[in-house]
Amino acid sequence: MARKFFIGGNWKCNGTLEEVKKIVSMLNEAEVPSENVVEVVVSPPFVFLPLVESLLRPDFQVAAQNCWVRKGGAFTGEISAEMLVNLGIPCVILGHSERRSLLKESNEFVGDKVAYALSVGLKVIACIGETLQQRESGSTMAVVAAQTKAIADKVSNWTDVVLAYEPVWAIGTGKVATPGQAQEVHLGLRKWLHDSVGAEVAATTRIIYGGSVNGANCRELAAQPDIDGFLVGGASLKPEFADIIRSLTVMKSQL
Ligand code: PGA
Repeated sequence: MARKFFIGGNWKCNGTLEEVKKIVSMLNEAEVPSENVVEVVVSPPFVFLPLVESLLRPDFQVAAQNCWVRKGGAFTGEISAEMLVNLGIPCVILGHSERRSLLKESNEFVGDKVAYALSVGLKVIACIGETLQQRESGSTMAVVAAQTKAIADKVSNWTDVVLAYEPVWAIGTGKVATPGQAQEVHLGLRKWLHDSVGAEVAATTRIIYGGSVNGANCRELAAQPDIDGFLVGGASLKPEFADIIRSLTVMKSQL
């Protein structure tokens, strides 16, 4: 079964009200393939979510960058999954490496978050990826498999999960994984899903790549058979995000 190409824009902790409105106008004017071909989700900081949701073109969706691990309550500073649902926010990014490393989110905690968010009806972009040290010591596959297993242990239905492979050494560094490096891990992850979860989940789950994706390197990456889209940080704030959204169709039309 074909996996629909998926492009996420992770705005991280960036933007003023004026800048956010500008980015939305840029997105609204961009000429991109129809939502039947490419699914586009942008993820502004929490405080801008309702505004972006109200201004954004209807064929794009919004995602939060995080949410609390369980039902809301006395958790100062947190945003619950139920609040996102209540505001009509359909999707959330969980387990981003910046949260894993800076806020010490463990594999198990991320697995719990993914399961809870799914249980209230959110779609989840679940992030995994190895550090440079882990790659150099040859443990890339073991690291991403353990991160994925912590999710698989808690999740039975993968329909609403997009897995984002984001090598930590490639995030925000300008050092993108080569198409071969990315494809190798994506294929490994698909095999892991096949053996540990099931053939159907392995065949249908989108595995997207993140880490220094830009308008210049996206097409070669998009051409890899197991790369089903991108999670884009820095370049999602710029006009080249539209080129990234178009990367699959450009690639196909060049064949
Ligand atoms: P980057 O970030 O594109 O700026 O490297 C990707 C991400 O962190 O999702």
